[in-house]
Amino acid sequence: MKIAVIGTGYVGLVTGVVLADLGNDVICVDNDPVKLDKLRRGIPTIFEPGLEELMKRGLQGGFLRFEDSIVNAVRESDVIFIAVGTPPNADGTSDLRAVKIVASEIAKGIDSYKVVVNKSTVPVGSGDLVRDIIISHGVSEDLVDVVSNPEFLREGSAIYDTQHPDRIVIGTKRREAAIKLVEIYAPLERPMLITDIASAELIKYGANSFLAMKISFINAISRICEAAGADVADVAKGMGADTRIGSQFLQAGLGYGGSCFPKDVMALIRISEGLGYDFQLLNDVVAINDDQTLHFLRRLEAKLDGFDGKLIALLGLAFKPNTDDIRDAKSLQIIEYIVSKGGSVRGFDPVAGELVKEVHPELELAPSAYSVGDGADALILVTEWNEFRQLDLERLGEKMKRKLMFDGRRAYSKAAAQRAGFEYYTVGSN
Ligand code: UGA
Repeated sequence: MKIAVIGTGYVGLVTGVVLADLGNDVICVDNDPVKLDKLRRGIPTIFEPGLEELMKRGLQGGFLRFEDSIVNAVRESDVIFIAVGTPPNADGTSDLRAVKIVASEIAKGIDSYKVVVNKSTVPVGSGDLVRDIIISHGVSEDLVDVVSNPEFLREGSAIYDTQHPDRIVIGTKRREAAIKLVEIYAPLERPMLITDIASAELIKYGANSFLAMKISFINAISRICEAAGADVADVAKGMGADTRIGSQFLQAGLGYGGSCFPKDVMALIRISEGLGYDFQLLNDVVAINDDQTLHFLRRLEAKLDGFDGKLIALLGLAFKPNTDDIRDAKSLQIIEYIVSKGGSVRGFDPVAGELVKEVHPELELAPSAYSVGDGADALILVTEWNEFRQLDLERLGEKMKRKLMFDGRRAYSKAAAQRAGFEYYTVGSN
């Protein structure tokens, strides 16, 4: 199949590369010349395990190209994926400007039947919006079908998730369009759900908001555990063993961050409002999440008798492991809080250090995990990178001023940390 993917952000690049790997002719389009130059040379613009090999294979095999003209890419393709960003507006609604511009450009290239696929996370009704924009440019109605095909990949395992999705959701009005998508995804041999466009759009928001709710739920339970002397890990294990609940996304911690959950939960609140429903439950999901890191910091603040003049070491800075993404990362909230209270911060992350320093120049970067604690009054485990799990804790604390550990992700056992001489505190237990 001849495919164009517009936008080489996280979703666009991974989708394009994986579809090329399935033997499709894929043109990835972007308007950023610096990005294009890197991508054409096989250099990924995001940190994602497995991406570089797959990109190189696609480029060398001639299945993958990177171009700057949407119009030309549309002319050469049967199916066009829109994968541009839909960042949040100040009020939590989605900013659809990029989607609208791309839809207008796509219209200019349509000279035969094309299927236009919304891969970006867009509010209910956006499928119709894209179709209306294309038709408003004089394109005949029988030359275009719009499909909603939301993406469920996670950063850090994006290639694997795209190759092994739990389900593939295809929302469309016309059978012909659905068949094209079924053909593209058939080699993955995964379950497909064919539905209408609005339902497909809502599945994405429903899924992300539900997962965010699970996280906030267990984080609320973690607060009760701390007060009751219970252990949230055991509570989560016992709850998750019920197959109706499931064990995933019940990891209590500092709360959810990243580019998706915070944005999508807020967007669903706004979408619901627009449709006349007050989704109060989701407001609570957000409120619990916003308070989770603050509560953790307040506990540390109390132990230290205030942050003024104290140096705090941060282990991990990315919003989660295996990514250099720092959007809505908890490290940012932590740095802001400590610095606002007169403290200073030193951090280490395997890949995201420089990116955080760009936003917070007051952050001192340590060259390694073992040196982050030198002279520090406390250490916070912020991001649970695998490489931190087996650290020699004695060495980690060796040069700390006070061996006080606040483990925000429950990455270490209390016994092991105490054996290494740490005073150890974590989320959801005493
Ligand atoms: C999320 C969804 O999991 C994907 O299915 C979806 O495609 C994606 O958003 C998107 O909309 O693009 P992602 O944001 O990459 O993926 O990361 P997750 O692994 O879902 O983690 C999100 C946040 O929740 C992280 O901050 C993580 O630390 C936190 N989390 C996750 C917890 O605090 N506890 C958990 O049990 C699981």
